[in-house]
Amino acid sequence: MPSIAKTITTSFITILILLTSPLSSSPLPHEQDPTPTPWPHQFHSILVMNYTGTLEIIDLWYDWPNGRNFNIIQHQLGSVLYDLEWNNGTSFFYSLDSSKNCRSSQVEVGILRPNWLDGAEYLGQRHVDGFLCNVWNKVDFLLYYEDVVTKRPVHWAFYTGREAHVMTFEVGAALEDAEWQAPIYCFDKKAESDNKGAEFPITGPSVGGLLRGPFRIGM
Ligand SMILES: *[C@@H]1O[C@H](CO)[C@@H](O)[C@H](O)[C@H]1NC(C)=O
Ligand SMILES: *[C@@H]1O[C@H](CO)[C@@H](O)[C@H](O)[C@H]1NC(C)=O
Repeated sequence: MPSIAKTITTSFITILILLTSPLSSSPLPHEQDPTPTPWPHQFHSILVMNYTGTLEIIDLWYDWPNGRNFNIIQHQLGSVLYDLEWNNGTSFFYSLDSSKNCRSSQVEVGILRPNWLDGAEYLGQRHVDGFLCNVWNKVDFLLYYEDVVTKRPVHWAFYTGREAHVMTFEVGAALEDAEWQAPIYCFDKKAESDNKGAEFPITGPSVGGLLRGPFRIGM
């Protein structure tokens, strides 16, 4: 009798495990995974960039309704580079110092869409920069860390080794129209032909879509 009772108990437990395990081991993980928060249509961020010890501060102005994105890049104790991108595929890279450098480029893709993170692979939760984050892998191009509680971006780690630490994230902040005007020397015909395809390599159109926006600088 005791052994029969034991067998019955064991079977019962086995059945219980079989019944409950589909719930506890979640056979449909992809449906339960958190998804990245879409970007607000306008925001301002200050990013501290670190590329194996070379530091930059980027003032990032993302402005989807107006189809434009601005990265103002301060190299440590060095120059400031303005990288202004329009959704029609035109970008201007310039300095505002006496060198009056400007280069423009034309690509087939616009700036990053607010939902550009759709379809990113969820990797779980990790601590980064002192925040508990959900982490996604976007097509093996970057890891995107978002604060679990506030849903704000915290950290982006590019596969090139470059890292962005998101220091501020001001939803709804917009830069005045006048600030988006590239300097006159960007429209100088000679400058333009001199500059075409010059020092800023624009990689193939397949990655171009991801490389525009704040992330081309990341690469
Ligand atoms: C920058 O990254 C390097 C590793 O690539 C690290 O050793 C260094 O501490 C980082 N510097 C800062 C200021 O985060
Ligand atoms: C794209 O838009 C910008 C800003 O309006 C403009 O300066 C540039 O010429 C446009 N490029 C094209 C190819 O139309």
